Amino acid sequence: MISDRCQVGRDFDRPYICLPEPHTNIIITTPRMEDVDSSIRIVNDPRVLKWVLGTTSPYTTARAESWIEGVKNTSNALLAKEGTFADGCPFRHILELKPDGSCEFLGDIGISRSNWTDILDPKERRSLLDENNSRVDGDEGIVFQIGYYLSPTHHGRGIMTGALSALLNQWAIPRMNAHRIKATLFHGNFGSRGVLMKNGFVLIRTVQKYTELDGEMTDLFVFEWTRS
Ligand SMILES: CC(C)(COP(=O)(O)OP(=O)(O)OC[C@H]1O[C@@H](n2cnc3c(N)ncnc32)[C@H](O)[C@@H]1OP(=O)(O)O)[C@@H](O)C(=O)NCCC(=O)NCCS
Repeated sequence: MISDRCQVGRDFDRPYICLPEPHTNIIITTPRMEDVDSSIRIVNDPRVLKWVLGTTSPYTTARAESWIEGVKNTSNALLAKEGTFADGCPFRHILELKPDGSCEFLGDIGISRSNWTDILDPKERRSLLDENNSRVDGDEGIVFQIGYYLSPTHHGRGIMTGALSALLNQWAIPRMNAHRIKATLFHGNFGSRGVLMKNGFVLIRTVQKYTELDGEMTDLFVFEWTRS
């Protein structure tokens, strides 16, 4: 199994990867149902909601439970998988480990095959999806996408920059053989732009007037990381 061969921490009650210095007290681990309430509180914060969901409609308990249930199943399947390469990362919940042994849920980071939501033409999108999904795990041509959010109590400390770096270097490169990863963000999301640029992503495309956000048509920026 991939989980038996990976260099992941095991001194917590589940496997994890650890952020680089100076955030070694922060880990990325498998999804936990006990994080539902914290995730609802964080995602419903106006500093997070519109950037993540592209809406100001509240993130409901039912939606959070169903999301975490789904990513938990995906994570279990990834950890149990036989074979050389994984088709995603089993670790996504970002937790801060406290000196007293407790931990706090800080956010989420996920990687999966691209869903090509930046492509507005349905036929072109279908064709890209079919082509990308037909590739076998570990194929260098697969295009992945990432998404993330962090509790506003912890913004601006370099945590998501470190989390993305850990995800890339400790999992996506060695365990997924990732060569192309995309990320999209709405105009005005300077925090996310900073995280991406600090990890080597570059702006490849702008989709003008992509969607309505706060009553205005907003541009979508498409960033991409390619393995050198
Ligand atoms: C985007 C987000 C994850 C960034 O996490 P973070 O841990 O605060 O980011 P970092 O501290 O690693 O910052 C990375 C860079 O961006 C800059 N940055 C961060 N927030 C910023 C902001 N609001 N405005 C301008 N620059 C910002 C930082 O200064 C840093 O650059 P520096 O090291 O040169 O100073 C966080 O703001 C968030 O959760 N936002 C809401 C959800 C979201 O936007 N998700 C992504 C959807 S595409």
